[in-house]
Amino acid sequence: MTPSSAPTTGERWPLGYLETHGPHADPSTALMWGLTAISLVVVAIITLAVIGGALRGRSPSGAVRDGGLAVRRDGGGLLWIYVGMALTLIALVAILAWTVDVLAETNSPAHKPALVLQVTGRQWWWDVTYSPDDPARSFVTANEIHVPVGQPVEVKLLGGDVIHSFWVPALAGKTDTIPGRTNVTWLQASEAGTYQGQCTEYCGVQHAHMSFFVVADPPAVFEAWRQAQLRTANAVPTAAPGAALFVQRCGACHTVRGSDAGGLSGPDLTHLMSRRTIASGTLPNNGAALTGWVSNPQAIKPGARMPATNLSGPELVELRAYLETLT
Ligand code: CUA
Repeated sequence: MTPSSAPTTGERWPLGYLETHGPHADPSTALMWGLTAISLVVVAIITLAVIGGALRGRSPSGAVRDGGLAVRRDGGGLLWIYVGMALTLIALVAILAWTVDVLAETNSPAHKPALVLQVTGRQWWWDVTYSPDDPARSFVTANEIHVPVGQPVEVKLLGGDVIHSFWVPALAGKTDTIPGRTNVTWLQASEAGTYQGQCTEYCGVQHAHMSFFVVADPPAVFEAWRQAQLRTANAVPTAAPGAALFVQRCGACHTVRGSDAGGLSGPDLTHLMSRRTIASGTLPNNGAALTGWVSNPQAIKPGARMPATNLSGPELVELRAYLETLT
């Protein structure tokens, strides 16, 4: 187990956008509550004005005269129109100014990003490259993003096949991943914890099973995690039954750094056991779930690119034993 494979705090924020924990998301949340409050006040004022006007303007006798309306017309009503328009204008200009201010504030982080990630949305998982422009610090992982608390992280978003959308509601709004272009967003967690993310652009049958996690740790814990991820896999003798089987049956699609498995179409499994879930948040990461997933992914996530492996019982046991060394 790597140092940060267990949450550093018990806190975990699911997919709620009402409670945010970072400077990219907080201003939007305040704006949302502010607009909701302003809208409610406007509705209340208009409701009262309509009811008040209807009551005030009633004909004293309440009778309908000569087929006309049962209302008085005293004049002086024009003043209310001027007052109403002025109030509307003030409210709309204030909302516009607040919105533009939030857009400017959340457009980019206040400080230079401490970390750059390249995240590629794929059917149906997230391919994550750390520090893509710094070979000494670059490694690839999947479906779980670790970040240092309180530091801005730039996220370059690529589309691997179709359009997906990267969303961590507690940390930042949605940004699409589009094939052929690079979109950029940023994250900054103000508190340690595990923040859930989700693809929010319909991208095929397993769109709903395309979750990920952002784990925010204190900088020292994050650095220990990064150093662990930078290492190649624990050396298992290539002749070991599970290791040979992995290269033969899984290596065309999956990479384990330090072994002969170098496939690029599925998630990098070098430090598989350091992750909380498998299959992009679909299953917990434990021996039983791994065995079930490897033996028949189509039963768990129909349509996923990983085919059934048709391994025998003893082969599954060997493969699981090997996978469990990938800490
Ligand atoms: Cu990827 Cu929806």
